[in-house]
Amino acid sequence: MAKILIIYSTTDGHTVTICHHLQEVIEQQSHQVTISSIDDAQHIDPALFDKIVIGASIRYGKHSPQVYDYIKRNQQMLESAPSALFSVNLVARKPDKRRADTNPYVKKFLKQTAWQPAEIAVFAGKLDYPRYSYRDRLIIRLIMWITKGPTAPDTVKVFTDWEQVDAFGKAISEM
Ligand SMILES: Cc1cc2nc3c(=O)[nH]c(=O)nc-3n(C[C@H](O)[C@H](O)[C@H](O)COP(=O)(O)O)c2cc1C
Repeated sequence: MAKILIIYSTTDGHTVTICHHLQEVIEQQSHQVTISSIDDAQHIDPALFDKIVIGASIRYGKHSPQVYDYIKRNQQMLESAPSALFSVNLVARKPDKRRADTNPYVKKFLKQTAWQPAEIAVFAGKLDYPRYSYRDRLIIRLIMWITKGPTAPDTVKVFTDWEQVDAFGKAISEM
């Protein structure tokens, strides 16, 4: 049995939902999962875990700076233990942008950090217009209009492919 730490960075909570789904899959493989926000992870000793997973969503083209900080501060440990990364964004609602080598945010991320995760996944996120501020709703609707996504202001839609999440959970269990 491996002890696995999943650290998340989220704004609206969908990344946490994905973490819980991963936890279910991984625990079915008889491993033990601890989920922590990136804030709380500052108080957790990663050396107590056999594997580390970091999941982060995109907001206006970027993963949170906290993700980069965490990786910098824990670089050595991330290199010595099996580790994995997943990114959550809406560009990935298009299946051809759902890979590490095709998703622009993950490509950029991997160039910016020295960390080389053993497993990488890119998941399509959630669109939730009613939840957004007026300004965010306006901007995201414009982006959706340009990229031929949903623009109706009452749209709440999860684009995540849960079978893809299942497969990533199994890959984490086996890495
Ligand atoms: C204000 C805002 C900005 C966003 N910017 C981007 C973006 O630049 N590119 C993208 O692909 N998705 C973008 N998204 C979509 C989020 O990545 C997606 O909704 C994701 O599911 C959010 O995950 P979270 O709930 O864990 O924060 C944005 C969403 C919001 C609300």
